[in-house]
Amino acid sequence: MSELAASIAHELNQPLAAIVSNAQAAQRLLSRPPPDIAEARAALDDIAADGRRAGQVIQRMRAMLRKSELSVVAQDLNELVREVTRLLASAALLSDTTVRIDLAPALPPVRGDGVQLQQVLLNLLTNALDAVSRRPPEARLVVVRTRPSDGGLVELSVADSGEGVPPEDLARIFEPFVTTKAHGLGVGLAISRSIVEAHGGRLWAERGPGEGATFRCALPAWNGDTRSVG
Ligand SMILES: Nc1ncnc2c1ncn2[C@@H]1O[C@H](COP(=O)(O)OP(=O)(O)OP(=O)(O)O)[C@@H](O)[C@H]1O
Ligand SMILES: [Mg+2]
Repeated sequence: MSELAASIAHELNQPLAAIVSNAQAAQRLLSRPPPDIAEARAALDDIAADGRRAGQVIQRMRAMLRKSELSVVAQDLNELVREVTRLLASAALLSDTTVRIDLAPALPPVRGDGVQLQQVLLNLLTNALDAVSRRPPEARLVVVRTRPSDGGLVELSVADSGEGVPPEDLARIFEPFVTTKAHGLGVGLAISRSIVEAHGGRLWAERGPGEGATFRCALPAWNGDTRSVG
């Protein structure tokens, strides 16, 4: 129960924080003389998108409580990267971080639950933004990459120019409630690893590039067979 509560709190935190900051932005834009209607409308669009995301998280939790099956369909990881980086665009802008995406053309699809896989990437990106926040603005870089890899796998990686992870912590940070952050729950990586493993994949951390960290997620490419998974 406490892990379920922690994961609900964790997953709703990001869209709720984004809704509040976009609402504040819209208020500022509308109280300017003259009001900036176009930008305010864009902020409202983002609020609606984040509200829908929070709704999806709740729906998924309800499905889990009813133990019903998750919606498992072909997922284009490149599309997923575009969606999630869009969700985080204002957070990246606010924190002066450059988020670069490098997507392999003609990437094979993977099979999975879109909302869950989005959550994995969102957790990795949120951590990367936190990790670079103590570097000077011009040194804050996050690179999201997709690649086909050996053995019929598709790899998604998030590399950052942050403070890095000490070698002795590379495995431990995936345990629940391990955090070095004042306001962290320490569940983002634990949840992400459970999701990736439930999809038949692997998620791990490496040191580098430079002093930073790289998180890699390898998922089986979908060969098109339509047997249902449990
Ligand atoms: N990109 C990164 N660079 C350096 N350290 C990282 C990175 N990602 C994670 N960590 C370390 O791993 C710890 C655990 O990460 P995790 O996402 O599980 O929890 P958290 O970010 O602390 O809290 P939250 O529950 O809000 O995600 C972090 O507190 C941090 O010390
Ligand atoms: Mg985290």
